[in-house]
Order: sequence, then structure tokens, then C-alpha cells
Amino acid sequence: MKINENFLKIESSYLFSNIAKKVKAYSAANPEKEIIRLGIGDVTRPLAPACIEAMHKAVDEMANAETFQGYPPEYGQDFLLDAILENDYKARGIDLEKTEIFVSDGAKSDCGNIGDIFSLDNRVAVCDPVYPVYVDTNVMMGRAGDKTENGWSNIVYMPCTAENHFLPAIPENHVDIIYLCFPNNPTGMTATRAELQKWVDYANREGAVILFDSAYEAFITEENVPHSIYELDGAKQCAIEFRSFSKTAGFTGVRCGYTVVPHDLKFNGTELNAMWARRQATKFNGVSYITQCAAAACYTPEGKQQIRDIIAYYQKNAKTIYDGLKACGFTVYGAKNSPYVWLKTPDNMKSWDFFDLLLEKIQVVGTPGEGFGPSGEGYFRLTAFGSAENTEKAVARIKDYFGK
Ligand code: MLT
Repeated sequence: MKINENFLKIESSYLFSNIAKKVKAYSAANPEKEIIRLGIGDVTRPLAPACIEAMHKAVDEMANAETFQGYPPEYGQDFLLDAILENDYKARGIDLEKTEIFVSDGAKSDCGNIGDIFSLDNRVAVCDPVYPVYVDTNVMMGRAGDKTENGWSNIVYMPCTAENHFLPAIPENHVDIIYLCFPNNPTGMTATRAELQKWVDYANREGAVILFDSAYEAFITEENVPHSIYELDGAKQCAIEFRSFSKTAGFTGVRCGYTVVPHDLKFNGTELNAMWARRQATKFNGVSYITQCAAAACYTPEGKQQIRDIIAYYQKNAKTIYDGLKACGFTVYGAKNSPYVWLKTPDNMKSWDFFDLLLEKIQVVGTPGEGFGPSGEGYFRLTAFGSAENTEKAVARIKDYFGK
């Protein structure tokens, strides 16, 4: 018996697990201190009433032999697929078919699992900094090569820093798989329609696939920022899109998302759609009926309004953090189309040192930029997903400590 030795190459613990451990240890040693958690992007507002109502109704249906449901349909309930097509796509002028949507337990799993359908010798490109799931899952599969001082030897890192307004440059050489996330986690920055079009054109020219993570699209406020990669010409021929109800509708604990694999996406005559369908049917057993009823309720008129109000609540928090930090003299990014605020650490402090400083001196938890990749060093992320009260308190503590 041999283990998958790729796991030995990777750090034993996931970024957010590391942070949780550090915070737990601090809290155990300092039980009297009140810690404010603005680290992991986990929501704090309760689910929209429309979702709760739909779940209650679904629970009652499960209690009755006439309406009870066993295994859910492999790729999603029709009522949810219809609502997704109508609201997330048709309303934006995008025509997709039901068979191009795969409902799942969230974008994180799908972003990780999608690697199953690609050969191990593909060259992968990621933004740097980046959501760790894209890199870590490629390491686990054996596609990342070896760890070096500058990251993984087979991964192409595309630096996103203040110098390039946090937009990756199109690679000079060929890459096969490109992970893009806009609005971006962790920087909170976006790509305009014209900028994203360049990526679609590159992928079509090079015969590459774009894996587009659109988990934060509900936070977009600017007109020229696309909500879906399929708003761009030629994207159906080169892109897979991941969507999530986690940040849109507070489903981090409920778990639901979906992935779009268009039928036009073909490599050497093989549809990736058929491969993903086969993969999902084999390794995944669908999302519970109760959860899918809740997800569909997000698209009802009441649900839409309630969700908009919750997003507005977090957007206000993002502005509170952004304005508060700016008033303190910090260099700050993000927030406008995103629940994340990305800041430059003061005096070029290392991002983990800044993490320790905030935790020890003012008991505010954030995420060190270095945890997202080499170019994240010297940056720090705060999330707007806390309560308004805690967000204001955290900003007040930062203002007090940094003396402005
Ligand atoms: C984050 O904090 O980056 C997110 O919560 C990660 C996730 O969505 O899995």
C-alpha cells in the first residue's frame, strides 16, 4: 500500500484551519479578551426569511409519504435549474440549457474537484495572491510539481499587486488551465468586461480552459464589471463558471452552489460537460431537497429583496472598514464590488507579524496576505461579513491603536 505522496509536499493544515488554531490558542490563554473575527469570509446574518420558509415547507414534505423525496436528481432539481437559468443568465442576455448547470454542495468543492477531468501534465496558471483551494488541490493531484522558494515549480503565478491594479498580465507563454476569480478573493478587486474579454480571447487562441470563480458576483456595484464570464464573446467555448449561494445568500453552513459547463466547451471533440456529468454522477449524490428549496427561494421576488438587503448590510460594513482604515492612513483596496478589504501592512510589516500584532494588541482577526501566495506578502485581508456592531468596534480599535 502506498499513500498519495503529494500530500506530504503540502503544509499539513489549510490556511483558515491554521488561523482558527492560532485564534483558539490565544483565546484559551486570554479568556477575558473579546476577539473580533474578520478573518475567514464566513457570513453572520441569518438566512433570508423566504429561504427559511421554503426549508420549513420542504421539511414538512419530507415528513409525508406522498411528498417524501429520496435521492435528489443528480444534477439538480428542475425548479432550481429553471430559476438559475432565468435569473442568473437569461436576465443578463445569456442563453444556457438546463443540462449545462450542475447543482452542488458549493463552489469550493467544485473548484477542487474539477481537476479530476484534466490531465496531470497540464500547465496551470493562477493569480497571486489566490484562493488557496485552486493551488492546494492541484498539489494533491500531483499537477503542481515541487515546492520552491517562489511557489510550486509547475504552477505559473500571475502576480496581482498594486503596481498592476491587481489584474494579472496575460501569460507570455502557453498555459492550459487558468483559474480566475472576479470579484477577486482575496484582493476584492475586479476585472472590467474589456479586461476579461482579453482572457477569453487568449484562452480561445491557445486552446486553454478558464475556470472562472464567480462566488462574489452579488457584490458587484459597477456597470462595466461582468457578473458572469458568459457575458463575453467566445466564453462558452473556453470557460467553466463556478457559482455559490454562500456569499450571495448566506449559505456557508447550508451548502449549495452550481457549476456551468457549456456544451460548446470541447477539447479534441470531447465535451467537458459529459465528463463532468460522469464525474458528478459517480462521486456526488446531489444536494438535499430541503437545501435546493431554500436556494430556489432566493429567486422569488421576496427572496431577491431580502437577499439584496443582506448584501447591502455587508456592503456597508465593507465601506466602514475601507473608510476607517483610509482615515488611519492605511493604503486600502477592494470593498467597492466585494466583501473583502485588502490593505497594505504598515511599514512593510510581514503579513503574519501584522496578524499577530492585531490579535495580541487589539484582538482583531484578519487573514495574512502571504497565506494567499507569495505576492500577498505585505498585505492583509479583512472581511465585511461580521456584524455591523463588531465591524464598527474593530475599526474603532484599529483607529485607537494606530493613533488616528
Ligand atoms: C475565504 O475566507 O476566503 C472564504 O471563506 C473561503 C471560502 O469561501 O471557502
